[in-house]
Amino acid sequence: MQILSIESSCDETAAAVIRDGREIVSSVVATQIEEHRMYGGVVPEIASRRHCESIVGVVNEALEKAGMTAKDVDAIAVTFAPGLIGALLVGVNFAKGLAFSLGKPLIPVHHIRGHIAANYLAHKELEPPYMCLVASGGHSHIVRVNSYTEFETVGRTVDDAAGEAFDKAARAMGFPYPGGVFIDKASKLGDPSKYKLPKPKTQNPYDFSFSGLKTAVINLIHNADQKGEEIDVNSLAACFQNTVSEILTDKFIAAALEFGYKKIALAGGVAANSGLREMLSAAAEKNGMALYVPPLPLCGDNAAMIGCQGYYEFLAGNIGDESLNAVATMSLDKVKF
Ligand code: KG4
Ligand code: ZN
Repeated sequence: MQILSIESSCDETAAAVIRDGREIVSSVVATQIEEHRMYGGVVPEIASRRHCESIVGVVNEALEKAGMTAKDVDAIAVTFAPGLIGALLVGVNFAKGLAFSLGKPLIPVHHIRGHIAANYLAHKELEPPYMCLVASGGHSHIVRVNSYTEFETVGRTVDDAAGEAFDKAARAMGFPYPGGVFIDKASKLGDPSKYKLPKPKTQNPYDFSFSGLKTAVINLIHNADQKGEEIDVNSLAACFQNTVSEILTDKFIAAALEFGYKKIALAGGVAANSGLREMLSAAAEKNGMALYVPPLPLCGDNAAMIGCQGYYEFLAGNIGDESLNAVATMSLDKVKF
């Protein structure tokens, strides 16, 4: 079965062709990051307009690279939730028009389920059940993946997501948007023990709280400014990355131990972070757990992961109809369309 998948939930317009859920036939990602960078973050209206301009070209390119026309695909999968509403609407409406004009099934896909599925494309042997840590720009979740389409979130952020914390801390350090990758690079040149940063507590031990950590970075920079002291940005980046990685790793491993998982996975944009990958892989090894991590191109937003999850949603009978709408916020555990 060949699925054409479409992703437009934030600032990447993406399309892919996926064969039988696990094989990437083609994958195209058009990013708008350069344009949003000058505003220090994603501007929703600009994102929607760029999706509108790019979507036909991106879908055509994915089909061309796959050596196909739209008639050759068996179904159309699309991210319908969660995300920026105006951005999602572009992909949903396009997918709907295409699916119904071709008379093919329309498969609505939850964006975070897609991030989790990215691991299936790289690790053919990976099958549920396992536990997944999802860390992206908008979400930080510890999830029990009971089957391809059944999820149980046991921990989530109570304020900022991990990626959001990276981006806000990076902004305070003077890096461009999105700053996660700049912190990652700077960390390699810094001393991770130079500054002491807090690890905010949460009521549920598997929830996350990153806003206090972000504020601590901002305060540290302001205090140094007021005293005319120089900040060692590389070391501050290393301390921040180390602290976030420790929080994510410690809570995730504790949850995996409590729920008895020997198989764990990492997903989402922050999964690209080299410090987190290293720390988590050492902790998994120490605890005798098999860790699955997506390759870098599948960590950030892409449509291949949506086509993969779309395949399993199709097998489970989760097909959309002409009333399908985009939804800005939706739990991963209870998907409704
Ligand atoms: O999953 P994603 O592409 O978009 C959402 O669904 O939110 O995640 C984007 C986030 C951004 O906050 C970005 O700074 C972060 O992932 N990110 C990183 C790295 N690469 C991307 N954070 C830390 N280190 C990285 N290497
Ligand atoms: Zn994402």
